[in-house]
Amino acid sequence: MADASLTRREILAAIPALGLPAILPAVAFADEAMPMRRIPGSNESLAIIGLGSSKPVDQIAERGAEPLASVLRALVASGGNVVDTWPRNADNDAAFGTIIEQPDLRDALFVASKIDRTGREEGIRQFEDTLRHYRRDRIDLLQVFSLTDLDTQWRNLQDFREQGRVRYLGVTVSTSRLYDALTQFLRREKPDFVQVNYSISEREAEQRMLPLLQDNGVAVIINRPFMNGALFEKLAHRQLPAWAAEFDCTSWAEFSLKYILPHAAITCVLTETSNPEHMRENAGAALGLMPDQAQRRAMAELIDSL
Ligand SMILES: NC(=O)c1ccc[n+]([C@@H]2O[C@H](COP(=O)([O-])OP(=O)(O)OC[C@H]3O[C@@H](n4cnc5c(N)ncnc54)[C@H](OP(=O)(O)O)[C@@H]3O)[C@@H](O)[C@H]2O)c1
Repeated sequence: MADASLTRREILAAIPALGLPAILPAVAFADEAMPMRRIPGSNESLAIIGLGSSKPVDQIAERGAEPLASVLRALVASGGNVVDTWPRNADNDAAFGTIIEQPDLRDALFVASKIDRTGREEGIRQFEDTLRHYRRDRIDLLQVFSLTDLDTQWRNLQDFREQGRVRYLGVTVSTSRLYDALTQFLRREKPDFVQVNYSISEREAEQRMLPLLQDNGVAVIINRPFMNGALFEKLAHRQLPAWAAEFDCTSWAEFSLKYILPHAAITCVLTETSNPEHMRENAGAALGLMPDQAQRRAMAELIDSL
């Protein structure tokens, strides 16, 4: 049994080491501060809600840097620290680098990026551009985007780590079509992180990936928690059920996040937003009570019935 003198935050941070069950009991939550979860095999913990920055970085060209800076400040003020990026446009990436260089953000963020190129030299070039744009000698996590040119880029990632330019290595998928290829990769390699899609209406990872990743001691980052916004279109004009109040839930965004957060395999959930209010709301979903197993089943049934 867990030591009663530990805070809930400490218990959650220790989840991988404790080998707790797949779905944490609701009593393990009810936090007042953003819960942290430990990166398996390390002494480092990440806040459970992070920012997926693809859309706000894309918008820098038309809206300037301030909206993204506000979202990052909202994340940090809420106790968050993870920002996931995907280099695609030199000007936007350089502007992002300027934002994360600000004194209040520089040491507050765990920065994850990706390689999406084909070929060894192209992968090296993309990473060197990323470091230059982000004004860093080293980034926290580098991932092979959607298993693209996996064998070549995985070797590149290992070289970058040996050179001290990356701390953790990972791979990403955002569709169940890649789960077989990901499973094969996990049989031969041991990434520190895997990023995988999971939401209340895209639940395949629950059976097919999360137990395997938990057993393998891999840190798990979740993408598409709102199906890139499609979930909100589906739920527009729908009333939240009254029973959502039983687990401190007051919006559909919280409903979606509180469904996935109790899964013990998960280290961090990326929510993408250009809106600081949405960032605060998403971070707030990690606070208060969480649904238990029966409530989670009812939540999934409700979404499936719509
Ligand atoms: N293969 C890969 O590596 C891969 C693929 C896909 C995604 N990702 C990562 O995962 C991140 C997130 O996944 P996603 O891109 O599919 O986005 P998502 O988080 O599932 O959905 C984002 C959408 O939800 C809206 N939203 C966010 N919070 C909200 C709230 N509280 N209330 C109402 N609307 C809200 C956002 O609009 P507003 O801006 O108006 O808030 C946006 O349109 C990406 O940024 C990226 O980092 C990785």
